Amino acid sequence: MQAQGKRIAFAPTMGALHAGHVSLIRIGLEKADVAASSIFVNPTQFAAHEDLGTYPRSEDSDLQKLAEAGCAFCYCPTVTEMYPPGDSTRIQVKDLAHILEGEVRPHFFEGVASVVSRLFLHIGPDVAVFGEKDFQQLLVIKRMVQDLGFPIEIVGGPTLRETDGLAMSSRNAYLDKEERARAPGLARVMRETAELLAGGAGIRAATDRAKAEIMAAGFTSVDYVEARRADTLAPFGLESAPVGASGRLLVAARLGKTRMIDNMGFVRRA
Ligand code: PAF
Repeated sequence: MQAQGKRIAFAPTMGALHAGHVSLIRIGLEKADVAASSIFVNPTQFAAHEDLGTYPRSEDSDLQKLAEAGCAFCYCPTVTEMYPPGDSTRIQVKDLAHILEGEVRPHFFEGVASVVSRLFLHIGPDVAVFGEKDFQQLLVIKRMVQDLGFPIEIVGGPTLRETDGLAMSSRNAYLDKEERARAPGLARVMRETAELLAGGAGIRAATDRAKAEIMAAGFTSVDYVEARRADTLAPFGLESAPVGASGRLLVAARLGKTRMIDNMGFVRRA
C-alpha cells in the first residue's frame, strides 16, 4: 500500500466489536487512504485470575462489521504468531503505566505495550486509532511511540455511549439484566462529578462524593475515582484544579463480576 503512496490507518481490537470500534475505523479513514484492523485477544494483558477464557468472541460478525465500515484488511494472528515459542521480550512504559489501572492491574500495560508494538511492526501503519474509553492506554501508547520512535501518528477516538449514557464496551456483554439497568449510574455520577470539578469543587471532596454515589447507584465496589491532569495523568493535589486547566476524571468500579472503566474530560472554569 505505502509503495503505492497510500497511507494506512490501523485500529487494533480484541474483537467483540461494537459501534465504538466501528467509529475508530471511520476516524482512520478520515486520516488515511486505507483502514486496517486486527482481532487478537492478547493473553499477556490478562492476569491468571482475569477473564481471558471467557472474553467474548464473535469473529465472523466482527469481520462483517469491519468490512461494512470500509476496513480493507483485518489481521487475526494466532498466539504463536504473536509470541513465538521461547519468546521473552516485553515492553515496559515506566511511571504512566504504573498508576491508576497499572496499580490495580500491574501486568496490563506491559501486555498492551508488548502486543501493540508487535502489531505496529507487523502492519506498519502510518496512523493508529485508539478509543478514549481506555484513556490511560491511549496515553501509554503515545508515550511508547514517542520513546521508541515509531513513525506513527496516534489518534484518540471519542467514547461512544448508549442512549442511557453507558460507555460502549465489549465487557458490557457480561452484565445481566438487573446489572445493565444499574450500569448507567456510573456515567451519571461521572457527569455530575466532572461538572462539580469544572465549577471549582475540591478534588478530594468531589471524588469522595463520587465514590459514595457510585456505591449508592448499586455498584459492588470502586477501584478508584481520580481527577488528574488530562495530558500526563499527574495529580492536581487535593485543592481545586487551577482555572483553565484540562482535567480527566477516571473511574474503575465493579458491578457484580464485571469490572467497568470510564472517563470524562473537564476544564476548570473561572
Ligand atoms: O483496547 C484494546 O482492545 C486492547 O487493549 C488492544 C489495544 C487491542 C491491545 O490488545
